[in-house]
Amino acid sequence: MTTNKTQEIKIEWKSPSNLAIVKYWGKKKVQKPLNPSISFSLKNAITTTSVSAKPSTQGGFTFYLDSIKKETFNEKIDNLLKIASSKLPFIANHHLTIESSNTFPHSSGIASSASSMSALALCLADLQLIINNEASSKLDLQMVSELARLGSGSAARSLYGGWTIWGEISAIPNSSDDYAIKLPNVHSNFMQIANAILIIEPKSKKVSSSEGHALMNNHPYGAARIKQANDNALQLLEVLKWGDWNQFFDIAENEALSLHALMMSSNPGYTLLHPNSLKVIEEVRRARIENKLPVGFSMDAGPNVHLLYPKYEETKILPWIEDKIRPLCHQQEIIYDELGNGPEKIDIREL
Ligand code: PMV
Repeated sequence: MTTNKTQEIKIEWKSPSNLAIVKYWGKKKVQKPLNPSISFSLKNAITTTSVSAKPSTQGGFTFYLDSIKKETFNEKIDNLLKIASSKLPFIANHHLTIESSNTFPHSSGIASSASSMSALALCLADLQLIINNEASSKLDLQMVSELARLGSGSAARSLYGGWTIWGEISAIPNSSDDYAIKLPNVHSNFMQIANAILIIEPKSKKVSSSEGHALMNNHPYGAARIKQANDNALQLLEVLKWGDWNQFFDIAENEALSLHALMMSSNPGYTLLHPNSLKVIEEVRRARIENKLPVGFSMDAGPNVHLLYPKYEETKILPWIEDKIRPLCHQQEIIYDELGNGPEKIDIREL
């Protein structure tokens, strides 16, 4: 597509959320991680975002969530646009209409920032190519990951299908704090990972992730956490090659519990856990030890629990979830998800 300077152009991308097994918790300037994190992209928890760019000397943007004008996200979007405009000069001379919708309910407690900020970064980078009449050249996903990171750290990891690492680590020579890269050599077992997202408590969090990250500055266990996360990342990289589920569950659960322990031991301390989060953890451990079910858990910064298991074992796992776990969920709500193939371009149009 060739464009002229007065055209309004609309582009649309879908991008997934992701689940970190080794967690990013704590940051340095500008939105760089204190430690490496490793995640996989989800398949069903997706944000679809379109951006229409209309030439305007004033720049600026308007944001709609599910067709309703929303200002709650303006600060994050504004931060991203300001920093991105040095790489994407079209931002300064276009007004952007950004429309977003998620496949998962807002009240579900699934962080939408990873999927929404990565979808927005994809639209912006793609628009710059089109405006430069370079549409046929391929998007530089590392550059887009860097942009997404500026909107929300975890969004840097949503640009690829499968497994991703963000943050510098010696074992992976091209790893970087600036952007995420796709992890090669993952055992086929872990390319078939399933994730049942248990909605334990849908209310919004008392303490936001941004506040939580900030409390890692001067945290009494800060240095120990950085060492632990690096050790867990190195071990997970090996386990992902070998394909051993029990070793995988040990790392995932150690990371989830450590994340919540860091919140409890920060100053001020807080907990986002719900009594039923703890009941689920008990049930998972019992199922694994007593019933030999291949199931483990992860958690993000909230009360909801992510069950992890091999998709190819779901005939064993699903009856147990329905029997023991569903009653512990808020209004019995569970969202079944699994590893996905990454973002997808939907549409591009001249208006
Ligand atoms: O990207 P943020 O600022 O919402 O932080 C995400 C932090 C965790 O979800 C708790 C961990 C992670 O690595 O995704």
